[in-house]
Amino acid sequence: MLDAPPDPASIRRLYGRRSGHKLRIGQAALVENLLPTLTVPAKGDITPEGLFGDARPLWLEIGFGRGEHMAGQAEAHPHVGIIGAEPFLDGVVGALMEVEARGLTNIRIHNGDALDILDRVAPASLDRVFLLHPDPWPKARHAKRRFVNPGPLDLVARALKPGGELRIGTDHPVYCRWALMQMNKRTDFEWLAQTPADWQHRPADWPQTRYEAKARRLGHEVWYFRYRRLP
Ligand SMILES: C[S@@+](CC[C@H](N)C(=O)[O-])C[C@H]1O[C@@H](n2cnc3c(N)ncnc32)[C@H](O)[C@@H]1O
Repeated sequence: MLDAPPDPASIRRLYGRRSGHKLRIGQAALVENLLPTLTVPAKGDITPEGLFGDARPLWLEIGFGRGEHMAGQAEAHPHVGIIGAEPFLDGVVGALMEVEARGLTNIRIHNGDALDILDRVAPASLDRVFLLHPDPWPKARHAKRRFVNPGPLDLVARALKPGGELRIGTDHPVYCRWALMQMNKRTDFEWLAQTPADWQHRPADWPQTRYEAKARRLGHEVWYFRYRRLP
């Protein structure tokens, strides 16, 4: 019998778009001038000291899209350093525009796979990880492409501090069920919801993302999951 196909932590293959429209002149200038000053170095250990010059708390956003949530969190928590990983260049440009418009100094960007970052941070070094509206890959035969799978979750669990938080947001019913099923199987995470309202309403400190806004406009429900990394 064939083995089950490996999940993204072992296949290390990115699905989805890496670039879209041709960049406008101002956008290209941001990529040329601002991005290099914010880019996570391509090799070596990733530490808050290396990225920000001090031992501040470190958060990671996986697939930040255009960066609205990441920028909102960075603005609300200036003492925190946030790493954003996003392979889609148009998304990175969106985040650069946010950084520039809001004058943010506490964001660093990896224009690539979040797994590369999870591999290179020290165990128990992140305080929060955000995974908001991940690509749903709704067909059953593509389930192994979903970020919420044992391999990537093991890497997230390794990177989070005990007591650290993983947030998952989705508006996709298939992904919602899948994520609950995967997370319920884990012994290293505790679901923080006490009442249905906790996962049916966006927490106050959870800035809205573009995908969430789009889902709301279409009348879709959105679900907000918060998990604590157990010691
Ligand atoms: C559906 S979009 C959601 C974007 C944003 N989080 C939002 O809510 O508006 C999913 C994003 O995840 C990114 N993505 C997919 N796989 C990724 C990976 N392995 N590491 C980092 N980002 C990834 C995609 O490029 C895409 O921008």
